[in-house]
Amino acid sequence: MKYGYFDDDNKEYVITEPKTPYPWINYLGNKDFFSLTSNTGGGYSFYKDAKFRRLTRYRYNNVPIDDGGKYFYIKDEDTIWSPGWKPVKTKLDKYECRHGLSYTKFIGEKNGVNAEVLQFIPLDFLGEIQHVKLKNTSSKEKNIKLFSFIEWALWNAEDDMTNFQRNLNTGEVEVEDSVIYHKTEFKERRNHYAFFSVNQNINGFDTDRESFIGLYNGFESPQAVENGKASNSEAHGWSPIASHYIEVSLKPNEEKDFVFMLGYVEVDAKDKWESKSVINKKPAKEMIAKYNTKEKVENALNDLALYWDNLLGKINISSNEPKLDRMVNIWNQYQCMVTFNMSRSASFFESGIGRGMGFRDSNQDLIGFVHQIPERARERIIDIASTQFEDGSCYHQYQPLTKKGNATLGGDFNDDPLWLILSTTEYIKETGDFSILNEKVPFNNDVSKAKSLFEHLKVSFYHVVNNLGPHNLPLIGRADWNDCLNLNCFSQDPNESFQTTGNKKGKTAESLMIAGLFVVYGKEFVKLCRELHLDDEAIFAAKHINNMSEAVKNYGWDGDWFLRAYDYYGNKVGSNENEEGKIFIESQGWCSMAEIGLENGMVKKSLDSVKKYLDCDYGIVLNSPAYSKYYEEYGEISTYPIGYKENGGVFCHNNPWIMIAETILGRGDQAFEYYSKIAPSFLEEISELHKVEPYVYCQMIAGKEAHKPGEAKNSWLTGTASWNFYAITQYILGIKPDYNGLSINPCIPSEWKEFNVKRVFRGTVYNIHVKNPYKVCKGIKEIRVNGEKIESTIIPILDSNKEHKVEVIMG
Ligand code: BGC
Ligand code: NOJ
Repeated sequence: MKYGYFDDDNKEYVITEPKTPYPWINYLGNKDFFSLTSNTGGGYSFYKDAKFRRLTRYRYNNVPIDDGGKYFYIKDEDTIWSPGWKPVKTKLDKYECRHGLSYTKFIGEKNGVNAEVLQFIPLDFLGEIQHVKLKNTSSKEKNIKLFSFIEWALWNAEDDMTNFQRNLNTGEVEVEDSVIYHKTEFKERRNHYAFFSVNQNINGFDTDRESFIGLYNGFESPQAVENGKASNSEAHGWSPIASHYIEVSLKPNEEKDFVFMLGYVEVDAKDKWESKSVINKKPAKEMIAKYNTKEKVENALNDLALYWDNLLGKINISSNEPKLDRMVNIWNQYQCMVTFNMSRSASFFESGIGRGMGFRDSNQDLIGFVHQIPERARERIIDIASTQFEDGSCYHQYQPLTKKGNATLGGDFNDDPLWLILSTTEYIKETGDFSILNEKVPFNNDVSKAKSLFEHLKVSFYHVVNNLGPHNLPLIGRADWNDCLNLNCFSQDPNESFQTTGNKKGKTAESLMIAGLFVVYGKEFVKLCRELHLDDEAIFAAKHINNMSEAVKNYGWDGDWFLRAYDYYGNKVGSNENEEGKIFIESQGWCSMAEIGLENGMVKKSLDSVKKYLDCDYGIVLNSPAYSKYYEEYGEISTYPIGYKENGGVFCHNNPWIMIAETILGRGDQAFEYYSKIAPSFLEEISELHKVEPYVYCQMIAGKEAHKPGEAKNSWLTGTASWNFYAITQYILGIKPDYNGLSINPCIPSEWKEFNVKRVFRGTVYNIHVKNPYKVCKGIKEIRVNGEKIESTIIPILDSNKEHKVEVIMG
C-alpha cells in the first residue's frame, strides 16, 4: 500500500493519507538553523546544536506518536481543524503534505476553507517561515479564527526534559505588537533569545501553556481554541509557549495570507537590553522585516529552489527506470546533504542530545556530498583530521560546537583512521585540489603539534601496521565498523555501555574487515603517493599491503568465505565452525573489494556465499544465523533479538559494499538487484510493511530471521545514504572521478539498452550517453568524446567553456 506518490517534476513526495505507518519527516534548513517536520506538523527547531540550542520542545517516543510540533488551529463556527490534520485530527475534505527540498507544504481543506501552510528556512537565515494562506472556496462569507502554536524548549534539550525543579521556574517571555519573545535565561548567561511573529495585527495571544491548552486538555483540544478566544496570558515559569490569535473574515473566493516567523537572535553582551528588563528587539525586527510580505517570501523560496537545482545539477541521470532516476537525481543526493548537516544527531530516531560527529561516519558521509559542496567537504576533512592523535588513532566522535574530540567516548575503534584516506582521496579526485594535503592540521586539536594532512593519512595507514595481532591481522580495538562486535568488552553489567567498556586488553582479537579495508585504502594511499611522486613511500607501503593480503589468505579464509574476526581467545568468528554467526557481510565486502584472492576464485566464492546465506527478499543481512543468546565474548551484537539491527538485520549501510564487489566480478545484474532491494523508492508499494519514508534510506530493515522481516527503522541519518549513492553512480553507472579525469566503466543489468548521465566535473559539463547494444553487464568497446574516439576509459579534463559529448558503447 502507498500513502502518497513521487512528484518528480516538483521534486516532492506528496503524502495524501495523514496516517502514515510512522511519522514521515523532512528537514528544513541548510546551515546553522534547522527544523524537523513530520507529515502532520510534528517536530522542532534548533540553532546549530540540537542539544544545546533547542528552540522548540519535542517529546520523543510519545503517546500518541509524534504529538507536539508547530501547529495551526482553525475554528470555523463549531468545527475545529488543523491544516496538517494533527493535532485536532478532524477528518479533512482534502489533505496533502508535500515534502520538498528543504521545505514542506501542507494543504488542508474543510467546509469550504482551504489552508496552505508552507514551512521553510530561507538561505543564510536564522529563522523559519511559515507562510499560511487561507482561502474561502465556498459561496458564503466565512468568519474564522486562526490560532498558531509552538512550545518553547528551555534551550538545553536534555536539561529541558529532566531538570523540572529548576526549569518550571525559569521561563520568561515578552510580547510586543504581534511578536512573542522567548527570553528564558536571557537575564543571565545567555546572549540569545527566540521569537515567534506574524506580519499582521493580532486579536490576542497566549504565552502560558496551561492558559492556552488547559491542564487537562491535549494538543488536540486547546481550551483557548474551544472557547474561541485567547487570554493574553503571560508566562512566568511553567511552560512558555507562543500562540497568536487572529480573526479572519473571507468573502467567497477571497484569500488572505500570513507570514509567521520563528527566529533566533544572538546579541553582543553589551547590547542585550533596550531598557531595564526589556530585551533588545532590534535584530529581531530586522529579521521580521526581511520577509514580511508574500513577495519577499516567494523570492526566498525561489532562491532555495535555485540553490537545490545547482546542487543536484552536478549529477543527473536518465535511465528507463523512474525509480532509479528519482533516487539518484533527487532523494539520495538530498539525503546525503542532510547527513552532512546532521551527522547522526537529530532525527525521529536520534534524540539530538546524544551523539556528536562520528569520525568514521563523517568521513564516509563525505563521499555522498563532495561533488555538491566541495568547499565544505574540505573544511570537514580538516575538522575531522584535527581530532586525530599523533599515532594515527582517533577520537571516535567530536562535538560540532567545539570541534573537539569527545573524551568520554574516547577512541580505539581501529577502523576509524582508514576512513580518512577514503574521504581525502575522494575529495582530491573530485576537485583536483592536491593543496589540501599540504594544509597544516593539528593532532588532538593542538596546533603546536600540527603536521600536513598527508602526514595524517600516513599515520592512519601505519596505525594499522603498528597494531597487528597474532595472525598478522589488524587488532580490532574496541570495535571496527560494526560497533556491536565488541570483542574485548566482556560485560556482565547491564549498566555498562558496550561502546565504552573494554574489560580486557585488546592484544589478540583481530578483524578481517579492517584487513580488507586496509588493503583497499592502503592501495589508495599508494596510488596517492605515486601521484605525488613519492615512489619510495609507495613501495614501502605496498609491502605492508602485500603482507596483509597474504595474512588474509593464510588465516582469514574459511573455505567458502572470509572469516569475520578472531576473538579474544583466538577463536574464529564468522566461520562454518561456529554454531551461530557463521558468515558475516562486512569481511566479504571488504576483502572482495580489496580483490584478495581474486585470481584464485576466493572473491567469487565469497560473493556466492553472500547470495546463498545472507541474501533475502529485503536485502542482505549482516550475519547468519543470527545469535540467539548472549555471547559475552562478542558483546552488543548478541544482545539484539534475532534479525534486528547488527544481529541479522539488513543493515543497509553495508549492502553497497557487496554491490561494489559484484561490479568487480562484472555481475551487473546481481549488483543492481541488490541495489533495488533496499533503495527506498523501490519499496514504495510495500510502505505498510516498510513503515518508514519511501524517499530516504533507513539504517536497518528487519532481516529474514526477524519476527517481521521487511519492517524498517532508523530512517534518514545513516551512512547508507552516501554508500548507496557512491555504489550506484560510481560503480553501477560507473562514472567515477579520478585524479586525471573522469573514468567510465559501467556495470549494469544486461537488459539495459542505454542510459544518460550529465556530470559536472571540475566545472566542466559532460553529457554522457552509454549504449549497450550487445546486452553485456560490463565492458567498453568504444568511447568517443565530441565525436573523436579515445583509447583510454578515462575522459581527460576538458575545456570548461563548453559542454562535451561523450558516447560510450559497451561490449
Ligand atoms: C547501535 C549501533 C551504533 C552504536 C553507537 C548501538 O547500540 O546498534 O548501530 O553504532 O550503538 O551509537
Ligand atoms: C551506526 C554508527 O553510526 C556507525 O558508526 C556504525 O558503523 C554502524 N552503526 C554499525 O554498527
